[in-house]
Amino acid sequence: MKKILITGGAGFIGSHVVRLFANKYPDYLITNLDALTYAGNLENLKDVELLSNYKFVKGDITDESFIDNFFAENDFDAVIHLAAESHVDRSILDPMSFVKTNVLGTGILLNAAKKNWDDKSNKLFYHVSTDEVYGSLGETGFFTEETPYDPRSPYSASKAASDHLVMAYHHTYDLPVVISNCSNNYGSHHFPEKLLPLMINNIIHSKPLPVYGKGENVRDWLWVEDHAKAIDVIFHKGVHGEKYNVGGFNEWKNIDIVHLLCKMMDRKLNRVDGESAKLITYVKDRAGHDMRYAIDATKLQRELGWKPSLQFEEGLEKTIDWYLANKDWVSRITSGSYQQYYEQQYSKR
Ligand code: NAD
Ligand code: DAU
Repeated sequence: MKKILITGGAGFIGSHVVRLFANKYPDYLITNLDALTYAGNLENLKDVELLSNYKFVKGDITDESFIDNFFAENDFDAVIHLAAESHVDRSILDPMSFVKTNVLGTGILLNAAKKNWDDKSNKLFYHVSTDEVYGSLGETGFFTEETPYDPRSPYSASKAASDHLVMAYHHTYDLPVVISNCSNNYGSHHFPEKLLPLMINNIIHSKPLPVYGKGENVRDWLWVEDHAKAIDVIFHKGVHGEKYNVGGFNEWKNIDIVHLLCKMMDRKLNRVDGESAKLITYVKDRAGHDMRYAIDATKLQRELGWKPSLQFEEGLEKTIDWYLANKDWVSRITSGSYQQYYEQQYSKR
């Protein structure tokens, strides 16, 4: 059995990757290592936990002796590394926890792989990264794999540093690696601190919809299950030492997406057309707010044959339906420290 370590599998994207791999590859043993921070939740994997080829281990990637023993005991064939601090606004409030998890944590994993993989043939360290490492675009152009790194938030700088470490281990120690840099994901199990689930949740509860600045910043949205499928393709067919951009060619201004959500949800909640849009509140902009992200995913399409499967409106519809059907999930995961974060983030904005 091929032994695969997935880090951060209890989070948003990680849970979709674990679900896809555990179901699609019964001959792989999937170990999900996750520290279960505020963003990790085993409820996300209820449907997977009974599968015989899946197991969960609670552990912290920044705990070096734990990770060293864990690798020595398990003889993993491959790592798919998603564990991270992932929210830009939190990185502005507390940059050092991003340096710790995203930079140090990735370094500790790489080092454990290097020490334990004497025979590197058939091994792979797959690092899941973000398009934010490339910085911010003007009105035109796309990020390609050749775009120079220009991270501008503590989050994106920590992800850029981890990408560089991964490539350094490839060039220096011949560690077989691959990196993918993806655009904004959306879909089920998305923590409600992020734009789309936050807006959906606030519309449901008729709370203000906090749009940063003028709402003109642009993001390129991809259905999370299409990202998981891209990870599957890159994991199996990607060339070692290469990077692949992943994106949906689906750019939206924040304010347009919020209006679209309001319109769709007025219909679903039997509200008068225009009622939810009255909740839109322009608030103080995010510090250092990147203007526009847009991914050119041609390399992945051309070389590995991946393309997104779902139209945005269809994905949004499924996402809204999931949140309407899972209000308990949202109240449970927002009941603890999240309330304090929300107050701090939005009360004086
Ligand atoms: P998330 O915040 O939902 O999940 C992160 C997971 O990592 C959580 O389960 C958390 O418990 C775990 N974790 C955090 N610190 C840990 C530690 N020290 N040890 C072990 N586990 C730890 O994040 P996400 O949105 O699912 O993102 C997953 C990965 O994909 C990240 O590396 C992120 O940078 C990258 N990414 C995210 C997006 C996006 O749109 N969300 C886009 C591109 C890339
Ligand atoms: O591009 C990939 C990245 O996308 C990932 O690497 C990150 O992990 C992920 O969090 C996401 O980062 P963003 O900062 O783009 O996502 P967020 O949902 O936080 O914000 C999306 C846009 O919406 C951004 O322009 C800021 C704006 N926004 C966000 C929030 C939370 C608002 O206007 N109001 C809000 O309340």
